[in-house]
Amino acid sequence: MSLEPGAAVTGQPAGGAGVTAQPTVTGQPPPAGTGLAVAEPAVSCAGVTYRFGDHVAVNLVDLTIQPGETFGLLGPNGAGKTTTIRMLVTLLKPMAGRISVFGANTATQPMRVRRMIGYVPQLLSADGSLTGRENVELFARLFDVPRGGRAQRVEEALAAMGLTEPAGRLVKTYSGGMVRRLELAQALVNAPRLLVLDEPTVGLDPIARSDVWEHITRLRERAGMTVLMTTHHMEEADLYCDRVSLMHSGRVQATDSPANLKALLGPVASLDDVFRHFTGGTLDGDTAKGGIRDVRRARRTARRLG
Ligand SMILES: Nc1ncnc2c1ncn2[C@@H]1O[C@H](COP(=O)(O)OP(=O)(O)O)[C@@H](O)[C@H]1O
Ligand SMILES: [Mg+2]
Repeated sequence: MSLEPGAAVTGQPAGGAGVTAQPTVTGQPPPAGTGLAVAEPAVSCAGVTYRFGDHVAVNLVDLTIQPGETFGLLGPNGAGKTTTIRMLVTLLKPMAGRISVFGANTATQPMRVRRMIGYVPQLLSADGSLTGRENVELFARLFDVPRGGRAQRVEEALAAMGLTEPAGRLVKTYSGGMVRRLELAQALVNAPRLLVLDEPTVGLDPIARSDVWEHITRLRERAGMTVLMTTHHMEEADLYCDRVSLMHSGRVQATDSPANLKALLGPVASLDDVFRHFTGGTLDGDTAKGGIRDVRRARRTARRLG
């Protein structure tokens, strides 16, 4: 089926509830686990840095994400997650270092990179005055999905997110969880190899959150897609990510599977304990201004939409 990314490595372990594939050495990506072990990484960041004025928002970040992985970038508000993501999706250029996506350099080959990624930004972006189907069609045109297969692609993306039935309704009648799923459908319509989700569940209640995750997990199992997400919800990362990087003050402090990271601290450690251990700060207790503003804005948008 056409949602399947072109050359995705399938047969990767399906992540899922706390199942971590292979044990890894801290900071090292796991072996690919298929005959295609030499495939280039889905994402490679080396020495990536970004400054706003004097403020170093992203500081010498190194990351490698393997094809088929679900990878979480975790950190409190202000850690530098969104800035990292914006560089990765070619909206900002790294001031130092380099990023490649399936071998394409984000700074010098942005169009090649854009064709391979689907991006769901942190703030809600669907248009409430259009129907769900119209929103997805808009993205299909924006992303140059060939006219011939476009209608089918749109229906497949809607179906993958469980939105076939309400697709003809105006988006302002959707719940917050449905709006998020619609944005995922938009991001999927060009059959990306890498899906990038910035705080995919911010502003959603716990039921809507797990619903969004169920859809992402199912999609990933079916299409073998690589998923990179940011979150400050540790429980979500623990449940759904194969590996995570803990980010704090612009730096990656540790990278490994949630299970390995927790094992470092003992049998009853939570990922939140791990985060405290590596950063000296808590994740959920952090109330940096930007974050609250972002969440409020996201919620306002959600209210406006329905
Ligand atoms: N456009 C901007 N101008 C100035 N500072 C910014 C801008 N965007 C982000 N920052 C700052 O950069 C840091 C990292 O922000 P961000 O990448 O949004 O973090 P996160 O997504 O982890 O919450 C924060 O200190 C934030 O205030
Ligand atoms: Mg952010």
